Amino acid sequence: MTDNSEHQDRQKNSDDKPNSLGLSISTNSAILGFFALLCTAIIASTYLSTEEKIDKQKRQAQLKALYQIVPKQQHDNDMLQDNIVFEDQALGHRKEQTLFLAKKSLSGEQQPLTLIYPVTARDGYSGDIDFIIGINVSDGSIAGVRVIKHKETPGLGDKVDLRKSDWVLDFNGHSLGDPDSEGWTVKKEGGIFDGFTGATITPRAVIASIENTLRYHHLNADKLIEQFDVKTEQ
Ligand SMILES: Cc1cc2nc3c(=O)[nH]c(=O)nc-3n(C[C@H](O)[C@H](O)[C@H](O)COP(=O)(O)O)c2cc1C
Repeated sequence: MTDNSEHQDRQKNSDDKPNSLGLSISTNSAILGFFALLCTAIIASTYLSTEEKIDKQKRQAQLKALYQIVPKQQHDNDMLQDNIVFEDQALGHRKEQTLFLAKKSLSGEQQPLTLIYPVTARDGYSGDIDFIIGINVSDGSIAGVRVIKHKETPGLGDKVDLRKSDWVLDFNGHSLGDPDSEGWTVKKEGGIFDGFTGATITPRAVIASIENTLRYHHLNADKLIEQFDVKTEQ
């Protein structure tokens, strides 16, 4: 090989280098991009399927609680059919929720018996406490309260859950004005309801939310029941 041709070869190699570097950068970028997309897709699909599963579990817990509040033998309609999907921030909702109505046949006509509201107390110790509350249409008294989902601390705030204590049963029979508004808090703060030792935030949040729902019922029950009637007539 002459000096001249060696020089030309070296020149060619050095001309190729930027090209091969560029190629390697773009190949690696494409591979990285592909894996980033793949990971995002996996995380998104896991999130969606988990959320779906949680929603399903929550709905099952809600249905079970529904029949604890108004047992099947106390009403005559199919509550799973008699429902309205709605969202109202006044009840703490963060998304659409289902309102149920139990009806009882009287002289051949179905009368509204109990409205069962889905409610979220947003100020629990660890965030949202989702519960349902049945309110009797005839006198506005509480038919029952059941906590459906919460993140309160085991051994402290989780006594709102009927599986841990029967605290929620204390609300049965109470209504707006019974007790008066000072009474709607824990005993420690002058109210009539038990608190939990060393954990006042959770029961205070639930009690306030229950009283708020009673007030909501007082203002809105007729309007809501009308919506069920319209639905039934269709
Ligand atoms: C780790 C930890 C977890 C707690 N979890 C709760 C809870 O779930 N609910 C609650 O009301 N308070 C909880 N507390 C206590 C609250 O911070 C607060 O002190 C208490 O609610 C005030 O109630 P008291 O006035 O009866 O002491 C927790 C405290 C700690 C340190």
